[in-house]
Amino acid sequence: MTKKIVALILSPRELGNCEILVKEVCRNIPEEHKLELIRLTGKDIKPCKGCYACLAKGVCHLDDDFIAVAEAMASADAIIIASPTYFFGANGMLKVFLDRCMQLFAAKFSVRGKPVINLVTAGIKGEAGYSEMMLNSFSLILGLKLRASEVFYGALPGEVFFENDAQLQRAAALGKELFSDKERVFADWACPMCGSDVIQLLGRGKVQCAVCHNYGKIDKNGEELKLEIELNPDNIFFTKEQAARHGLWLQNMKERFMQLRRKLAGLTAPYKDQGRWL
Ligand SMILES: Cc1cc2nc3c(=O)[nH]c(=O)nc-3n(C[C@H](O)[C@H](O)[C@H](O)COP(=O)(O)O)c2cc1C
Repeated sequence: MTKKIVALILSPRELGNCEILVKEVCRNIPEEHKLELIRLTGKDIKPCKGCYACLAKGVCHLDDDFIAVAEAMASADAIIIASPTYFFGANGMLKVFLDRCMQLFAAKFSVRGKPVINLVTAGIKGEAGYSEMMLNSFSLILGLKLRASEVFYGALPGEVFFENDAQLQRAAALGKELFSDKERVFADWACPMCGSDVIQLLGRGKVQCAVCHNYGKIDKNGEELKLEIELNPDNIFFTKEQAARHGLWLQNMKERFMQLRRKLAGLTAPYKDQGRWL
């Protein structure tokens, strides 16, 4: 059966590096498929207002393209996300979109379990900052199954493949990964759980991943430093059960708010008239 791939393109540039990378990956997918592309920066996605109405009532009051994009993702057999690096991080629209995903805790559809490949572009070698981490944590929070994530370099639109056969081959190879069962394996120095390479040193060899909140230790294994991280049972996104538990906690917030709202209003009121809003 023809598989459906939905690609989120985070670059506003038409036929830019993100777009041609996604298309090159798809040209090399052995399985029969159709590709649907969403240029997220061209969509009307409003920032989350933090009102939690989506969890209480199952409806977000913001009227825009969010649901159409989320439903397209939910209807896909697999997802590809491609973002340019903008000042060391992914395009900000990815975060705007992710924040709105709070409503998916109460939605009737889900994107959970879908395979995903994350692609990052950056103009200067070594300057991709935390972009890949941003895409990978986006995927983790949504419960997507990360098959691969890679950074490609090139500043001008199309430059990722300009006189760069190695990057063309790497993109082509990714095509074989999307529908394979292979899980993404991260480098030894990255968190094996989420791929983050921001690791906090807690002393006495104890470490904590700054992104996914899992703890572990760092061992000197021969000459190499080896990072071992264990799943923190209090984690909120790793497994379906943890995400469901977190969803319940969020939904119970309404009750907590109703109980505490008078006391909270008393606490915040004295701050009301301070300063001048521009
Ligand atoms: C606002 C802005 C900020 C950027 N910041 C970085 C950066 O921090 N590091 C980097 O390597 N490239 C940076 N770039 C370059 C882009 O990541 C690069 O051109 C990329 O290939 C764009 O992908 P696209 O063609 O899909 O838009 C920046 C570009 C723009 C427009």
